Amino acid sequence: MNDTPAAQFSKRIFSGIQPSGGLTLGNYLGALKRFVAAQDDGVETIYCLVDLHAITVWQDPAKLRHATREAAAGFLAAGIDPARSILFNQSQVSAHAELAWIFNCVARMGWLRRMTQFKDKAGKHAEEASVGLFAYPNLMAADILVYHATHVPVGEDQKQHLELARDIAIKFNHDFGTEFFPVVAPVIEGAATRVMSLRDGTKKMSKSDPSDQSRINLTDDADAIAQKIRKARTDPEPLPEALDGLEGRAEARNLVNIYAALADISADDVIAQFAGQGFGAFKPALAELAVDKLAPINAEMRRLMRDPAEIDRILGEGAARADAIARPILARTHEIVGLIRSRTP
Ligand code: TYM
Repeated sequence: MNDTPAAQFSKRIFSGIQPSGGLTLGNYLGALKRFVAAQDDGVETIYCLVDLHAITVWQDPAKLRHATREAAAGFLAAGIDPARSILFNQSQVSAHAELAWIFNCVARMGWLRRMTQFKDKAGKHAEEASVGLFAYPNLMAADILVYHATHVPVGEDQKQHLELARDIAIKFNHDFGTEFFPVVAPVIEGAATRVMSLRDGTKKMSKSDPSDQSRINLTDDADAIAQKIRKARTDPEPLPEALDGLEGRAEARNLVNIYAALADISADDVIAQFAGQGFGAFKPALAELAVDKLAPINAEMRRLMRDPAEIDRILGEGAARADAIARPILARTHEIVGLIRSRTP
């Protein structure tokens, strides 16, 4: 899975989060926390609030604006430093949409029809889904490739989309006899690549789940976090002596994974610590850990949201820096494809 991209490309990380609804613990552990770690490792990091992806299903305009700023506040509060990472919202850099059009002409209908996320989201109503929802993975490929990004940290649910981005890069390179686009490596690592619903351990924790009890939101305060963990579905058995004893106990496994990811330890370490204890002991320990890690982020988000103009300024500055990287790559793509660029700016 983790093929090394061609040697001529230096390591550059890109990833994105949709600003529809709020950020969840799944987004935090599967993505955001790892974005911060990559930044702190000193790698070049570009992070994007993918508002053009969000509008593939209808969004209330005022709520979208609010959610985009709130997600940006979440990134900043979690530790993204706009001096070290580029942070912006997708629609401010038009190169994404422009490259996506070219990729619409590279990707095949059959490839997109196989995307499980489209099938899940459109369900039985595929005929009524927007064309944007269908073509969504092409825009995602453009997000990454317009920066020649080589590594993309994501949760497990984005794996198929990243495979499609690889297929698009390979087909483009093949069709035009070039090695212009890197073949990206998905980075799906850590104890929480798939955080599950607190109400049903077989379902992904998701901002679109109708039950707010199913997820922890980064906007939840300490009381809400503790209450949701206390009420999380579990089974009557104590925690086992070894990790494989969690086989078939999806809810228990999920809480162990969440603990591990929040504490930066392995799931084995969690089991070593809590073996033989029931949820009466484990849940309060998890609640305390979660509040300890998430409450400061929550407080900082609230503070940042008091100054939306400052958030917009950070996003605008990030967009200008992103644009400076993307423009020449888009221009070269146009040349490769045979599109004339003769207009003086
Ligand atoms: P989105 O907005 O659904 O989720 C953002 C990131 O959070 C991860 N994630 C999870 N990880 C673990 N457990 C969960 N329950 C969970 N829920 C969400 C996702 O895997 C993702 O990493 N299409 C993307 C956004 C996107 C993108 C991109 C990502 C657009 N362009 C380019 C990477 C590169 C999406 O909808 O993610």
